[in-house]
Amino acid sequence: MRPFLKWAGNKYRLMRQLKAILPEAKRLIEPFAGSAAVFLNTDYQHYLLAETNYDLISLYQYVQHEGLSFIEYCQAFFNTANNNSSCYYDLREQFNSTQDLRRKAALFLYLNRHGYNGLCRYNTNGGYNVPFGQHLKPYFPYKEMLTFHHKAQNAVFQHADFQTTLQLAIPGDVVYCDPPYLPLTATANFTQYSAKGFSWAEQEILAKQAEQLTNRGIPIIISNHDHPLIPELYKAARIIRFPVARSISRNGKQRKPVMEVLAIF
Ligand SMILES: C[S@@+](CC[C@H](N)C(=O)[O-])C[C@H]1O[C@@H](n2cnc3c(N)ncnc32)[C@H](O)[C@@H]1O
Repeated sequence: MRPFLKWAGNKYRLMRQLKAILPEAKRLIEPFAGSAAVFLNTDYQHYLLAETNYDLISLYQYVQHEGLSFIEYCQAFFNTANNNSSCYYDLREQFNSTQDLRRKAALFLYLNRHGYNGLCRYNTNGGYNVPFGQHLKPYFPYKEMLTFHHKAQNAVFQHADFQTTLQLAIPGDVVYCDPPYLPLTATANFTQYSAKGFSWAEQEILAKQAEQLTNRGIPIIISNHDHPLIPELYKAARIIRFPVARSISRNGKQRKPVMEVLAIF
């Protein structure tokens, strides 16, 4: 099942490799939920999905709790009259200023499907600033949202930093971490999902906490792309590598296969 949001770094096309190594467990914890592709394409009894993107978690909670009535409310924003740059920028402004959380959640989906290249980007004040995408007829993901709603009855969605989420893991869980990747070049910051970004220090904290979880008998797997610092970063893990075509790039010509890494602790 495809995620209902477009999301940089989504793991939909890597599910075959991931499913081959994700161990059985009662609950899957994803501290970097993103588009929830892994949640949608695995079969655990329970899930804990967390994220620092508040807008994303809020949208998931509306789909989870309200189902069809919220899906139809979102669908009303997808019409020809709303698919032009002036309406887009007006609705983006409403998204950034409204206090109505239900409307804000529906607008987040509208912006995701009408904005440029499925990007999710904020300015330093936290304002959503993705430009208009000029899509001919943005797809409304009705069936994907309905599937999400049904599956979400066995899930908890929470707004939290990965360090908080990792503390909630107990034996019997398996943890899959898909953090923002190490930058391949100094300017490759297109996967900046928040105003703050994700630092090298955070990559190191995540690797350290992964070691601590394995010592408590909790399996943990981390994704990243192949980078000269990978062996140092994940020295306590078994590393596997495979090629993958990236789906989001500033320049179409750069959509070359990049080696993907899975660190299995
Ligand atoms: C590579 S994406 C995850 C993609 C996801 N596995 C999927 O299939 O769509 C990384 C996610 O981590 C989130 N994130 C960034 N910094 C974070 C942090 N400190 N703690 C938790 N989540 C964070 C971002 O908002 C982003 O959605």
